[in-house]
Amino acid sequence: MPTDTRELDFTSAMARVPGPVVVTTTVDESGCRWGFTASSFVSLSLAPPLVTVSLDKKASTHSAFTSAGHFMVNVLAHDQSDIARRFATSGVDRFAAGDTVPLERGLPGIPEAAVRLVCRLHDVVDGGDHSMLIGHVLDCVTDVERDALVYVDRAFVRPAP
Ligand SMILES: Cc1cc2nc3c(=O)[nH]c(=O)nc-3n(C[C@H](O)[C@H](O)[C@H](O)COP(=O)(O)O)c2cc1C
Repeated sequence: MPTDTRELDFTSAMARVPGPVVVTTTVDESGCRWGFTASSFVSLSLAPPLVTVSLDKKASTHSAFTSAGHFMVNVLAHDQSDIARRFATSGVDRFAAGDTVPLERGLPGIPEAAVRLVCRLHDVVDGGDHSMLIGHVLDCVTDVERDALVYVDRAFVRPAP
């Protein structure tokens, strides 16, 4: 057990905390699709319904999301870790596999996701080396038959029933 917070390895500590796995997507005015995998997704407010996803300021997707009008949060299901890995991979066409299609409001969606949230970009808040994308939730689609994927100890796992 760390006795001094100065000894704490922050990333190792946070790796022990289970988190959801989402693919956040948007499409820009030229029709170009953007997406990235994130585990920083959290619910922020009930009234109004707000969620946040934090995005690295150095990410290739940063300017697309911070200037987007709308975005979609696809909460991945337990059997979609391959999609999570692809949307975290640099320098590839993350949409080439064709498992993302235009869904609610024309945003790139994953049909078999456990949950999809359609968001209007409400605010972008500075968070150190990340920007917090705050989304106002406009639509929710939930598949109660599909367990959400979890990321913990740097591994993808299916939550125990
Ligand atoms: C499980 C997992 C969770 C991730 N969570 C985040 C996150 O919350 N925020 C973030 O900016 N990047 C996160 N990443 C990294 C991004 O998916 C992506 O690799 C990074 O933005 C670099 O992409 P780029 O090539 O577009 O610059 C995560 C990656 C994985 C595998």
